[in-house]
Amino acid sequence: MTAVVINGKQMAADIIAELKSKIKQLPTPPVLAVIQVGDDEASTIYVKHKQKAATEVGISTCFYGFAKDCSQKELLDLIHTLNKDPEVSGILVQLPLPEQLNEQEILDSIDYKKDVDGFHPYNVGLLQNGYKKALLAATPKGIMHILDTVSPDLSGKHALVLGCSVIVGKPTAMLLLQRGCTVTLAHDKTVNLSELTKQADILVVACGCPEMVKGSWIKDGAIVIDVGINRLNGRLCGDVEFTAACNKASYITPVPGGVGPLTVAMLLENTFEAYKAQNNL
Ligand code: GUN
Repeated sequence: MTAVVINGKQMAADIIAELKSKIKQLPTPPVLAVIQVGDDEASTIYVKHKQKAATEVGISTCFYGFAKDCSQKELLDLIHTLNKDPEVSGILVQLPLPEQLNEQEILDSIDYKKDVDGFHPYNVGLLQNGYKKALLAATPKGIMHILDTVSPDLSGKHALVLGCSVIVGKPTAMLLLQRGCTVTLAHDKTVNLSELTKQADILVVACGCPEMVKGSWIKDGAIVIDVGINRLNGRLCGDVEFTAACNKASYITPVPGGVGPLTVAMLLENTFEAYKAQNNL
């Protein structure tokens, strides 16, 4: 089998084009507040991508950069101000945060209606209950968009999600469950991992280990979604051994150009949705 390589850039471009025309019709532009603490290189790149894409689609952005030794109170004060500002549609705090900060308290302090990352416990709870109006975390939403495009009926399929982070693994597992998949959520304590992956019709890998999943671990015809972005010997790679996996999978996302562009597109869609909900549109 030779896998179809999923063009995440094109899928994202289609979403963004549609969003752009919808945003044009709004009375005022949505506003996305972007908060970054410190100057981690990867975070800086992601934040710049997000801001550039927002501007292109007609969303205004306000960037708030903090020194890496900033205090919890400084961040909370800003978030409280942004929560109260009717002009601000969405608030994004780029993760991870430095160790001295209490990440959960900061995420909890964001007004759930402006929580365009979908990390607030209220939105997580809505997702858990299958409530459609939840703001969904952008990467899981992007993954589901890819899966719905290449395989409209997921019901009855065995999905294995490798990695159980709050940002990707857990919400993706929940969404797959809601589509009727039988879901296995694997992690670094899982034993006989390759035996499990060999049973998976859908394999979502978000473990942050370069090329950890080998081609031989993949079931013939599986759909492989690689969320990893790693650097190995100076080149970018995912969590899946791409070339070998192409010989087994039916569809596979490349790195870069797979899930990443959809994460950005979904963040913009969430900002648009948040704007509409706040303005009763
Ligand atoms: N760090 C890695 N992924 C994300 C994301 O989707 N949102 C935020 N805010 N930070 C991240």
